[in-house]
Amino acid sequence: MPNIEVTYAGLKLKTPIIVSSAGIVGYAHQVKKAEDYGAGAVVMKSFFEEEICRKAPTPRFKLIRRGYNGNASVTLYSYEQASELGPEEYAEEVSKAKSIVKIPVFASLNCVTPEMWNRMAHLVESSGADGIELNVSCPHGVHIMEGRTLKDEIRKALEATRDVKIPRIVKLSPQTSNPMIEANEVEKNGGSGVVVFNRFTGLDIDLETETPILHGGYAGHGGAWAIHYVLRWISAMYPYLNIPISASGGVTNGKDAIKCIFAGATSVQICTVVILKGYEVIEKINKEIVDFLEEKGYTSLDDIRGKIVGKILSYKEVDRRKLYVAYINQEKCNQCEICYKACYSSAIGKDSNRFYINANCIGCGLCVEVCPRKAIELVKI
Ligand SMILES: Cc1cc2nc3c(=O)[nH]c(=O)nc-3n(C[C@H](O)[C@H](O)[C@H](O)COP(=O)(O)O)c2cc1C
Repeated sequence: MPNIEVTYAGLKLKTPIIVSSAGIVGYAHQVKKAEDYGAGAVVMKSFFEEEICRKAPTPRFKLIRRGYNGNASVTLYSYEQASELGPEEYAEEVSKAKSIVKIPVFASLNCVTPEMWNRMAHLVESSGADGIELNVSCPHGVHIMEGRTLKDEIRKALEATRDVKIPRIVKLSPQTSNPMIEANEVEKNGGSGVVVFNRFTGLDIDLETETPILHGGYAGHGGAWAIHYVLRWISAMYPYLNIPISASGGVTNGKDAIKCIFAGATSVQICTVVILKGYEVIEKINKEIVDFLEEKGYTSLDDIRGKIVGKILSYKEVDRRKLYVAYINQEKCNQCEICYKACYSSAIGKDSNRFYINANCIGCGLCVEVCPRKAIELVKI
């Protein structure tokens, strides 16, 4: 059986799967549940220095489905903000969690002043936390809301917490022009790892009332779709960072987790999938990881970590020859016209009883993708 243990920021995890910071792991009993279902570690819900954030409004979740031709992309739009616990209570909860589980437990802190960063880092360290996530990237956090430069916030947080002994991992935001800049800043200032990423900040509008939905402000948005951005940046960071990367964003199953490790992640965090499907999904994801490795003959995750990086072509290396044209299988086509309307090259002709590909076809493959009956394929020229 393949070994799926990993060492993340010096800590041994029996699986790379970490339940990431959110209300699903706000209290010790939830941390225990995550452990019981096979989590390798847990990052507890973030403590916020700003007291106002410790009380979340109701309702705070909206599942937004949007898409084309019946294919919905789902966003779990939410405004959950911080743990409702104050400094001492939060540290006590960490200590309680530590007393009932064996897996590593990370505290997650979102502070504004250096004094509070320092005070909380020491409090959770003495409560037994195995590590700290410095959450400078919460979509509802003051840093993001006020558009402050993340690089400065990272430096401040690492500087203020530098005298604790446990690993300090910085959770990065996807909302910057080049997240590599922030990742470098973490490494340069003594951080033990980076989480790539927190969620985006979004807005949705109720057109009936002409007001922002839910609580009336911005909210976090994320979902399965987010993974591609995460994979892109992990693969870009992996060759240049000496500190480990923890993937976070859009992981819904074992194959997604495997992709994150192929891109260069050491550990993989899951949140939305646990919120929507329950803690049991952790077991399933672990099994899918083992099954994949077994099927491919790999013995450990070290065999695949970062393996995709050398295969990503630069824009200069991409093969730009026209290699294909489309072909419509008349037996499968029901003349629904979706391809005909979508083809912006006017390469689909129509006569009385059929659609056909004409000489304008550029081989782009769009018609293949939009056809609901899989009646079109690309054939080599
Ligand atoms: C309801 C909710 C609450 C969250 N709360 C926190 C939090 O307190 N601290 C934090 O660092 N990230 C928080 N996150 C972000 C998640 O930890 C995670 O990074 C993000 O949702 C992307 O992963 P996913 O696609 O698996 O959900 C929250 C996410 C959701 C959906």
